[in-house]
Amino acid sequence: MSTEDLAALAAGHERLYGSAPDGIWTAPGRVNLIGEHTDYNDGFVMPLALPHSATATVSRRTDGVLRVHSREIDTPPAVIDLADLAPGSVAGWAAYPAGVVWALREAGHAVGGADLHVASDVPVGAGLSSSAALEVVTALALSELYGLGLGREDLARIGQRAENGYVGAPTGILDQMASACCAEGYALHLDTRDLSQRQIPFDLAAEGLRLLVVDTQVKHAHADGAYGRRRASCEAGAAALGVRALRDIPFAELDAALARIEDAEVRRRVRHVVTENHRVERVVALLDAGRVRDIGPLLVEGHISLRDDFEVSCPELDLAVEASASAGALGARMTGGGFGGSAIVLVEEDTAEAIGKAVADAFAVAGHTAPRIFTAIPSPGAR
Ligand code: ADP
Ligand code: GAL
Repeated sequence: MSTEDLAALAAGHERLYGSAPDGIWTAPGRVNLIGEHTDYNDGFVMPLALPHSATATVSRRTDGVLRVHSREIDTPPAVIDLADLAPGSVAGWAAYPAGVVWALREAGHAVGGADLHVASDVPVGAGLSSSAALEVVTALALSELYGLGLGREDLARIGQRAENGYVGAPTGILDQMASACCAEGYALHLDTRDLSQRQIPFDLAAEGLRLLVVDTQVKHAHADGAYGRRRASCEAGAAALGVRALRDIPFAELDAALARIEDAEVRRRVRHVVTENHRVERVVALLDAGRVRDIGPLLVEGHISLRDDFEVSCPELDLAVEASASAGALGARMTGGGFGGSAIVLVEEDTAEAIGKAVADAFAVAGHTAPRIFTAIPSPGAR
């Protein structure tokens, strides 16, 4: 956010709440380069933070009340009595910040009231983690205002707990870890089992490359239930194989493992997760070797696996991948949970415009809503 925008946000806070904020915090959305639907299988992921962020002005209150306002929603602030914070008691978007207070208290932190005014340019519901940005910015602001001293992984865990236990979405920790821990110019190689991590240099501009985001602007209605069903299938697969999580099936043992699973659908889900974990490791090896262009085919392989084995793609995402590949992209795949949302496309810098146009044209011919296309610049995590 520019200095002017920050000043405008602070002025908005003062207009809404009658006094200046105590501080300003920000937390980004993300794309995931590779490692999709692996996080709730204790597997590997590789996100990078976007410049798009949720920015919040926040001040402490002494009366146990939380007031929240979003520039994007622009209704009068929601007023939440923190004495009555049972899950389900707060409706709408305010459940995200309220859920963060609930999760902090559940974890034993003494956190009281606050006034929060948020402005976000993370596209909502586009698979770019606008909700995680909201959770992480709230957790960071409250941690600092109440002297909780939470580390970045704590912030991510609190955000995930809010999402799972309060908002009620059974998601993994990819999005919150990305928002809390990513670094400018890097992709984050994360082991979601123990949160061990390594920042991997990802300076595409220096390589003459670009990573495009194609926001299809569609979100298919069955997304929420389908996510939970995918998770249940993975748990069924792990149980059938006698492992704690699918992450414990090495790629070399995949065929033997598949032969032990009776249910054909579970077999496909397991195959996606095990091959996807392997793809993350291959992408890491290529990046370490300075062979960025060579990750392209692995992105496409990942998309096909998500489309055919995990069945979380949709016609718009498939078209984004196919049209960009036909127009000469190095690789492309859906990113995030799927059923709509966004795709990422790796391109040579000098072909970016033509490939973006080819994708937009293909959407027009197919009669789909025009996609929003922008460049993913690896940006800093929450601060
Ligand atoms: P994603 O996190 O991929 O964008 P979700 O469906 O998980 O998609 O989360 C979107 C929800 O997060 C919105 O419906 C809204 O409740 C909340 N949200 C995100 N950004 C904002 C914002 N700027 N203001 C208010 N609510 C927001
Ligand atoms: C997201 C979810 C993440 C992760 C991802 C798929 O919607 O929030 O935790 O599971 O889908 O990789």
